[in-house]
Amino acid sequence: MIFDTHCHLNDPEIYKDIELHIEEAAKVGVKSFLVIGYDKESSLLAVKIAHKYPNCYAAIGFHPTEIFDLSEKDYDEVMALAKDPKVKAIGEIGLDYHWIKDPLQREIQKEYFIRQIEFANYVGLPISIHNRESTEDCLAILKEYPPVKGGIMHCYSGSIETMKELLKLGMYISLGGPVTFTNAKTPKEVAETCPLDRLLVETDCPYLAPHPLRGTVNYPKNIALVVDEITRLREESRKHIEEATYQNARRLLNIDE
Ligand code: NI
Repeated sequence: MIFDTHCHLNDPEIYKDIELHIEEAAKVGVKSFLVIGYDKESSLLAVKIAHKYPNCYAAIGFHPTEIFDLSEKDYDEVMALAKDPKVKAIGEIGLDYHWIKDPLQREIQKEYFIRQIEFANYVGLPISIHNRESTEDCLAILKEYPPVKGGIMHCYSGSIETMKELLKLGMYISLGGPVTFTNAKTPKEVAETCPLDRLLVETDCPYLAPHPLRGTVNYPKNIALVVDEITRLREESRKHIEEATYQNARRLLNIDE
């Protein structure tokens, strides 16, 4: 049993054959999905998918590159979805200094990141974090505005030191395709050393296809390759890894059905 804690079944590339992809993923053991929104349209669709498929849950929010032309009306409309019982997290939210270099725009990213953390705390939901080349600021914000219900470091690619800081703040470490890349030294070290009760797995489909499919469209079933690699690195049984990461996701996302 596997819980894909970061997938975009709401992406047009996946959504057009969503039933096929859910079925194929079930064949490799995927039991649940957290479908992640990144703007208004994708958040609305994540909730729609979560209503249609019992094993899908939704995260709603605004990705750090999707906030610049955002109206208050659209922001409010998305955040109102937090009341829906199938919405289990606010995300993906965070900072992206890879795509955004302008200091003023980075300030706007910080404002929306903080605003969405405070909203998650207000409604009692965990957060799903996108952090790219912005670890120092991300960590500083999390320390100043701790996520009350914890959260997920989506596709974690940082150091062991940073991981320890994040664990102290109640964050869970989610690993995806990059842990399988042959040159991925740090993600492999993280996979080996992260406490098993804080580890999660994800695809980020349609992005970040694992080795040897790197560079192709990533499909939900490919999570098997991520779990295989973590199993190999940790020298524990696959069943044990699956069971632990599955229960971690349910605990963090407050899912008990
Ligand atoms: Ni994503």
